[in-house]
Amino acid sequence: MTDIVTDLAVLRGHVARWKREGLRVGFVPTMGNLHAGHFSLVRLARTWADRVVASVFVNPTQFGPNEDFSRYPRTPEQDAAGLGEAGCDLLWLPSVETMYPDGPDAAVRMRVPGVTELLEGAHRPGHFDGVATVVARLFNQVQPDVAAFGSKDYQQLAVIRRMVRDLAFPIELLAGETVREADGLAMSSRNQYLDAAQRAAAPEIHRTLLAMREATRAGVSPAQAEVDAAARLQGHGFAVDYAALRREDLEPVGDAPSGRLVALIAARIGNTRLIDNLAFDAG
Ligand code: PAJ
Repeated sequence: MTDIVTDLAVLRGHVARWKREGLRVGFVPTMGNLHAGHFSLVRLARTWADRVVASVFVNPTQFGPNEDFSRYPRTPEQDAAGLGEAGCDLLWLPSVETMYPDGPDAAVRMRVPGVTELLEGAHRPGHFDGVATVVARLFNQVQPDVAAFGSKDYQQLAVIRRMVRDLAFPIELLAGETVREADGLAMSSRNQYLDAAQRAAAPEIHRTLLAMREATRAGVSPAQAEVDAAARLQGHGFAVDYAALRREDLEPVGDAPSGRLVALIAARIGNTRLIDNLAFDAG
């Protein structure tokens, strides 16, 4: 059974007791509507920590004005049940008032330069600053020793790494592998917005990432691999925000790719925006 906590003093009491007992505390922040991808992070955190806290908070400061904040799926009962099965000890469920006492718009905010400005950041202005803002608050509330994030949100993980380094949060970060459906579609709370035809097309994103990897390894230039990927997705009915090949630090690849690379895609089908990525060795 996962203990459900909505009061900050109660959360701090639990964590302080665990630390007095010499236990390591792991943390998995989420926005709820949990699936196997989230639960894999709980299990990952469990291997590095004696107690695991998960949070569910649909964070208003990371949604743009025309994004899905109000219709984002909220399923607290199922989330709590699934977290219990995955071995989570405590579910931290803060209210908007607990997170942002003067309201989201008046909150002290993080700004992470550089990595927030490209790819996702260019298409969702302010998004990563909102993510960093809420994750900084969550880190200070929970005070974990380790925190687990999914590689599915590759750039988000890069933003959090930067923030942890620059602000010297005494927290070790763990990266979990992307959990996929049998047909390759990365699990996401947003997949449930897809109708049957869109759901059938959606695995094309993962197939295109694999094609970008194969093309690169076969000597196709990064620029050509990107153009081909976008055309392939458009052919399957997607509006492509980007299909990009980058170094693993998200810097441009240059003409002769080498070392560790990452292919990243953001594409819309109907009203649903999906993202995915694939990290691989160029050689
Ligand atoms: P959310 O989208 O709920 O994701 C919570 C965590 O689960 C993130 O670290 C994300 O990368 C990971 N995740 C999502 N889908 C996954 C999959 N298919 N396989 C493995 N991991 C997956 O990301 C957020 O929430 C928010 O931005 C948050 C960090 C909680 C800040 O509000």
